[in-house]
Parts: sequence; structure tokens; C-alpha cells
Amino acid sequence: MISVDEGLFSPGLKRRTLVFGGAAAVVANSVRIGEAEINDSLKARAARKGLTFGSEVTVRALRESTLLSNVIIADCAMIVPGVEMKWGVTEKNRGKSDYQNGEILADFAKANGMSLRGHTALWHRNTPSWTNGLLNTMGGKDVLLKRVADVVSHFRGRVIEWDVVNEALEPSDNLPGEMRNWPPFAKGDPGYVAEAFHAAAEADPGALLFYNDYGFEYYSDGQERKRAGALRLIEELRKRNTPLHGFGVQSHLKVGNNFKANVFRKFLADIAAYDLKISLTELDINDDRLPYDIAERDKGVADHAQAFLEAAFDEPAVTRLLVWGMSDANTWLNSDRPRQDGFKHRALPLDENYKRKPLWHAIAKAFDNASPR
Ligand code: XIL
Repeated sequence: MISVDEGLFSPGLKRRTLVFGGAAAVVANSVRIGEAEINDSLKARAARKGLTFGSEVTVRALRESTLLSNVIIADCAMIVPGVEMKWGVTEKNRGKSDYQNGEILADFAKANGMSLRGHTALWHRNTPSWTNGLLNTMGGKDVLLKRVADVVSHFRGRVIEWDVVNEALEPSDNLPGEMRNWPPFAKGDPGYVAEAFHAAAEADPGALLFYNDYGFEYYSDGQERKRAGALRLIEELRKRNTPLHGFGVQSHLKVGNNFKANVFRKFLADIAAYDLKISLTELDINDDRLPYDIAERDKGVADHAQAFLEAAFDEPAVTRLLVWGMSDANTWLNSDRPRQDGFKHRALPLDENYKRKPLWHAIAKAFDNASPR
């Protein structure tokens, strides 16, 4: 048994107690993780092809269900914290760092042989309120670079892959290079992005440093511009000798959007041509355009993901897939992108009772069909 003691997540407990048993089976209410499941787990199927499978997780979700840790440990070789490393959490009060929940997840990963992604050092959302108005002043740049150095050095040697900069592109802001209109990137200057990567490399020379963003997956004018903006940004970073090692394609999909495999594959090949690794970092599938019927929705979601993953895994530079949560019990879509009919999304590989859905099997099949890396 590989399990996590409930005490692990009790507030106030500094070190966690982890329980490792001998048998391969964990029986927890309705969820049974036995020998067969472990051999056909998503992480095992991925590993056979030189790929890594992982999931987003939060301390809050782990505390809400003791079953979640079991399914994460069974299927995942990597985890990424949903909120615990974001600036608004780690430095809510200026100068007072709070890594408590990030530490819990780092320890959870280590104790169970999972690697850790870092998410995210620099992002225009989830910034602490004390930064309001400060970032576009003369001292703003130093504040930002200090933030990057702080969080990356705190987890030095433990995070193998960092999203150093998240979502710096926004075509609808109409700035040069499709840069987002956020103080550091105002007027389209990618200089801050480069400096953030330099600060991260100094803080942890061993980590793989990624640029991460959404809106590259579909065929539309806005996404054409965003793909072009990303390639231009990489070019600008290269010119500045930036230590950039990888590119994160968030992969927040939506059934009904126009996916063209050849367009997406070409984009991945263009990124790979810069000798960058590609991770699919936040896969989930918004099913708002599908009717309530569960079987129909599960099939629609699985088919959509399968077409996407098959195209993605065609590109050898794609080496990791992370889902933004394992279970429908934990998708952010219900709070941040609710279905119009008010029903819950079925966006993730496991249902609310941690049972495998057609999406789980679609991911498994995509790994099985992938060529070895
Ligand atoms: C999301 C979290 O999952 C939510 O809990 C929060 O309300 C908003 O942020 N792109 C990202 C992630 O890079 O950090 C976001 O995470 C989802 C979109």
C-alpha cells in the first residue's frame, strides 16, 4: 500500500507522516487500485514511450478527499501545484514568504517518487494586492525579478521544470509582438521575459525553464496571431541569449472549437526547431457545447482529446502531458468557466467518484499509439 496519512494535511503539522505498506492494493471505499491498474496506469503507459504523465493538484483538494492521493500516486509520475506556488499565495504580505502549502506538495511528490513542475514564477494573475500600482513604477521591474528569484531559489533542486513566465501574450491587446498589456510587457517589449529567465537560471541552474501559455491549439484568427507571437517571442529570447529550455502548451480544450491537426502539428514542429522541449501542461476539456447526456458528453470529450493528443504526440519534442486535475470533483472549470445549463463539467480523466471515464482511456490509447521518444 502506498498511502498518505491523513495527518499529512493537518494544518500546523510541519513534517508529514507518510505510510508505505507492502501490498500493491489500496482499497478505499469505492476506489480499488490493484496490481492490474498499476501496470496499466497512465504513468506506466507514458513511461514505455519515454513520456511523462502527471496532474495538477492542490492541498485543498487532497484535504477534501483522502481518495485523491491514491489515484494521483497510481497514475502520475509528476505533479504541479494548482495555486500553491503562485505569488498571491507565497507572498501575500510583502517580504513575508509563505511556502507552507508548496512544501506539502513538494514533500508529497518526493515521498511518492513523483517529480515536480513549478507553476508559476511570473503571471499577470494571482499577484498580491500590495503589488497593485507598484509594478509599473520605476521599481516595478526589481520587484518582479526578486519574485522570480525568491520562488525559484526556494525550490532549488526540487522543481525539475519551471513555468518561469505564464501567459505573456494576448493578441487582443494589440501591442507589438502580440504581447499582453501588463506593466512588464507594455509597449510590447519582451525584455522582461528574457530577464525573468536569466533570474530563474541564476536561482536554480539545474531546472528546465519553460514559457507557458494558452490559445495555440485551434484554427482561428486570434490563435493564428498568438502562434505567430509565440514564435516571435522565442526568436527575441534567443537573440538575448535567454536560458529557455521548453515551451508549455496549456491545452485547455473545448469541444466544438475548430481543431486542425496539420496546423497544430506545424506549430509544434516550429517550436521544436528551436531545440525546445514541449510539455502539454494543463489539459482539460470544456464540454459546455455538449448536451447534458453523460454518455454523449463523455464520448465527445474523449474523441476531442484523442484527436488532439494523437497530433501532439506525433511531434517527438512533446515529452510530457499533465492534466489540470485527475477528477471531475476538482476541475477549476466549474467555478471559473461554468456550464451555461448549470450542470458540472466532465472535463477530466476520472469522474467525481474517481472512476475511469472514456477520457482516461483516450489518454491511455494516445500513449499506446505514440512512437517511443
Ligand atoms: C487556475 C486555478 O486552477 C484556479 O483554481 C484559479 O481560480 C485560477 O487559476 N491557466 C493557468 C493556471 O496557467 O494557473 C490556471 O489555474 C488555469 C489557467
